[in-house]
Amino acid sequence: IPESSKQMLESHDLLKKFYHHLLVNTKEGQEALEYLLNRGFSIDTIEKFQVGYALDSWDFVFKFLSKRGYSADILEKAGLAIFRERDEKYFDRFRDRIMFPIMDRQGNTIAFSGRALGAGEPKYLNSPETAIFTKSTILYNFHNARPHIRKKEQVILFEGFADCISAVRAGVENAVATMGTSLTDQHIQLIKRNTENVLICYDSDSAGLAAANRASNMLNEAGLHVKAALMPDNLDPDDYIQKYGEKSFVSDVIGSSLTYMAFKLQYLRKGKNVNNEGDRIQYIEEVLKEISHLPNAVERDHYLRQISSEFSLSLDALEKQQRQIFFAER
Ligand code: GTP
Ligand code: MN
Ligand code: MN
Ligand code: MN
Ligand code: MN
Repeated sequence: IPESSKQMLESHDLLKKFYHHLLVNTKEGQEALEYLLNRGFSIDTIEKFQVGYALDSWDFVFKFLSKRGYSADILEKAGLAIFRERDEKYFDRFRDRIMFPIMDRQGNTIAFSGRALGAGEPKYLNSPETAIFTKSTILYNFHNARPHIRKKEQVILFEGFADCISAVRAGVENAVATMGTSLTDQHIQLIKRNTENVLICYDSDSAGLAAANRASNMLNEAGLHVKAALMPDNLDPDDYIQKYGEKSFVSDVIGSSLTYMAFKLQYLRKGKNVNNEGDRIQYIEEVLKEISHLPNAVERDHYLRQISSEFSLSLDALEKQQRQIFFAER
């Protein structure tokens, strides 16, 4: 690997330790620490994920790393410093934020995501893409989760770091999260090399459900076995754990996850009133389309029968239409 990448990795590693020290041991980090503890983070969790705090300073990190021999050019390319033409000076990218280090598969720190304390904008600020960090290939917590993914023969996919971290604290150790982007083909290839079974546990708000729907299509098309877990009241996994506890999360959310098709049926039904003829016909058409994507004939038959009995429709008509959809899509 090039010397410049080596220096970027070193500076990230140094900075991760420094941010963590600031959070855990200093007066400047106290408010951030209290924020995390109030959110249900434990000291153990903060240690395990090496969570830190970036000081409310314009150039503390720049000076800290410069003093240790890292050039301004390296720090800028690493995404840690920003050059401002106006002032002809370098500034720190992250200020007054809770810092989550992002690790690669080997556990090297390659980027950070910084959360505002409270209502600041943006809520999360990520490192830019650099020579050592490509968002679309990274799954947060993958380096910790990998042995558990292999042992349990399943990966659980979350939308946010906070969700992933709370899940791990609840004992769900095969948890990973995307970096605030949607699932990519590279993510899927990485998953595929480790397991065939994916449980999607995204936020249960409308954005999360739409993202889960899209992810489930991609994973299903890639030949993986997909399930999905839903929470009530638009909650996200972290909110759910806060409200109902870890035990309930494990048994009532993870343990009661839906099969791919059961998830699709719930998703397609949302916002529709099937007593209304237009909604009902639209729902049935969308379900038939999903059924036509199922690779397994027995499964197709099962869901056709279910729709047939639920809406008192002839199985024959449903089968015909489903086959039409299937061939129309070829
Ligand atoms: P908390 O409010 O801390 O619980 O965050 P969350 O994990 O519930 O976040 P949310 O559901 O709003 O978003 C999910 C993920 O999207 C986060 O973990 C981030 O990776 C990403 N994200 C959220 N807000 C922003 C933002 O303002 N900027 C960027 N770049 N990413 C964001
Ligand atoms: Mn520590
Ligand atoms: Mn969300
Ligand atoms: Mn969320
Ligand atoms: Mn949340």
